[in-house]
Parts: sequence; C-alpha cells; structure tokens
Amino acid sequence: MLGYTDALGIPPLRQAISRHYRDRYGVSVDPQRIVVTTGSSGAFILSFLAAFDQGARVAVTAPGYPAYRNILSALGIEVVEIEVGDATRYQPTPALLDKAGRLDGLIVASPANPTGTMLTADDLKTLADHCAKRDIRLVSDEIYHGITYLEPATTALALTDRAVVINSFSKYFSMTGWRLGWMVLPEELVRPVECLAQNLFISPPSLSQMAAVEVFGCRDELEANVRRYAANRAVLLDALPKAGLDHFAPPDGAFYLYVDVGHVTNDSADLCKRVLAETGVAITPGIDFDPSRGSRALRISFAGSTETMEEAARRLGAWLKR
Ligand SMILES: Cc1ncc(COP(=O)(O)O)c(C=O)c1O
Repeated sequence: MLGYTDALGIPPLRQAISRHYRDRYGVSVDPQRIVVTTGSSGAFILSFLAAFDQGARVAVTAPGYPAYRNILSALGIEVVEIEVGDATRYQPTPALLDKAGRLDGLIVASPANPTGTMLTADDLKTLADHCAKRDIRLVSDEIYHGITYLEPATTALALTDRAVVINSFSKYFSMTGWRLGWMVLPEELVRPVECLAQNLFISPPSLSQMAAVEVFGCRDELEANVRRYAANRAVLLDALPKAGLDHFAPPDGAFYLYVDVGHVTNDSADLCKRVLAETGVAITPGIDFDPSRGSRALRISFAGSTETMEEAARRLGAWLKR
C-alpha cells in the first residue's frame, strides 16, 4: 500500500489539484501538466534543473526567500539580485529587470516572503509579457496563495502557458511536515522533469499524497486559520507603530512583516539575538533575505496564536522602550 508512486504523483492528487485551479481561479489545467513534489523545495530543484543550464542568469528579488538564491547557486546557475523597496512594493518591474542585463529566468513570489507584498493581476501580466518578449522563463512561486488580506492572488496560469508555477501544501493547507508541493509546467518541461524526479526522488511521499487528496475538503478549517492570521496581522499593525516600528512593507498576504529597523540598529542579527535572549520573542534578521541591506531589517512571522502575538508585541514594545 505504501510503496513508491508514479514519479509525477498519484493521479487522484493531480486531478484534485487540477480541480482546485478550476474552483479557486476558474482556470482549466490539464492534470498531465501537474507534478507532485517533495514540498515546493523539491519543485525548485526539479524545475531549475530542467529549465536552466549551468551559467544561466536568473533574477530573484532582494529581499526575497533565501532558498531561491541558495538552490540556484548550488546548481551552478548565476543569481542576479534585483534590489526592490517601497517604490515598487518590494516587487520586480520590467524597468528593474532591464537594468539587470540579459536574463534567462525570473522568480517572483506573490504574496512574497519576507515582505507579504503582492503583485496586482496587471503587474503580474506586465511581467509575464515582458518575460515572453525577452525569452525569460518566469517561475511563479504561489505558495502563499489563499493567505491574503485584501485581494485574492492571481495565478500566472491565468496569464500564460509559459510559466513554471510552483505551489505547496505547507502554507494555506497547513501540511508543512508532510513535505508535499506541486508545480504546473509548460508541456515541454513535463518529460524532462519526470526523468529528473524519477532519478532524484523516485516519488513524492505516498502517505502524504493520500492525505493531500482529502485536504481540499477541509476548507472551513483552513479558512479559520486565515482568519487567525488576519487577526494576528491586525494586532501587530496596531502594536508595532506604538513600539516605534512603523516602517514596514505592506503585508498584503502571507504571515510576515518585514520591518525597517535602521533607526534602531545597523546589526539586526545582533538585535534579534538580544531580543530572543532577553524577552523570549523569536524574530528573523533581514540578512538572510537581503545580503546587502538586510542588516537594517527584520522579519516578524505571525503564524502563531493570537495570544502569542499579543504577548510578543507587549514584550517587544517594553524591550524597545528600555
Ligand atoms: C516563498 C517560499 N517558497 C517556498 C518555501 C518552501 O516551502 P515547502 O518546501 O515547505 O513547500 C517557503 C517556506 O517558507 C517560502 O517561504
């Protein structure tokens, strides 16, 4: 019963993911283009190997999710950091991409980690068109879809058939430790990815795949999680400015706040260490997300309970006042 499965995942799960695109986005996706992976992390390895040659130039944002950069460089792919900030809501634009020179790929995330900012449907379309014109492979990390506070997120699948779209059961679906994700590929990448997946992983975890078929029926529980994140976000949006932390990216989605603490420190790693030791509140220094400017920033995750958020905000506020 719990043997290996097809390298691309069990058919009922690939079909359930296809139905998810129909129900949530009104987009029709052939289950044959859907690949089940060991978390979105497994999807990054497989898609980067299939889509990019060694020495290819792939753009990521700074700040951005650090594993993009680390996986790309482990595979011998050149990482091109696009520095983003307030002016573009911490997201890339065609003008910023043009400044980066020739590119083979672009990774976007909306909502993003660590900022929670989103691309509007128009912005994503503009980027997808820009990439199509310049033969840049767009990789859209949609792992925080479903966790949004203002507008629902747009999938790149609604805009183009050329993008690699990556998603996961780790965030909205709350199956983090089950290590399961998926991607939707342009047709020509399916067979190369199948060969790579068979050799690198044999199959995604069998038990997790069976459980994931059922998770699409747990909407009420999952939406209750999102309501909790929204309440946590409201607690922090109220408490942080009172504690003197009022410069952060707009948290449109995900469960993060990326805060500029340049007026308090030039060494946010040290600040985070001291806050942890002296208050028990764990926050993440920005340096992992932005190697050049992150020492003046930190990321707060608000995925915990609302009581934890209230208590953490109280302790952090008292500590900063001292
Ligand atoms: C933006 C982003 N992408 C991908 C991942 C990896 O998630 P997983 O491998 O659990 O799907 C994370 C995890 O935090 C993330 O923040």
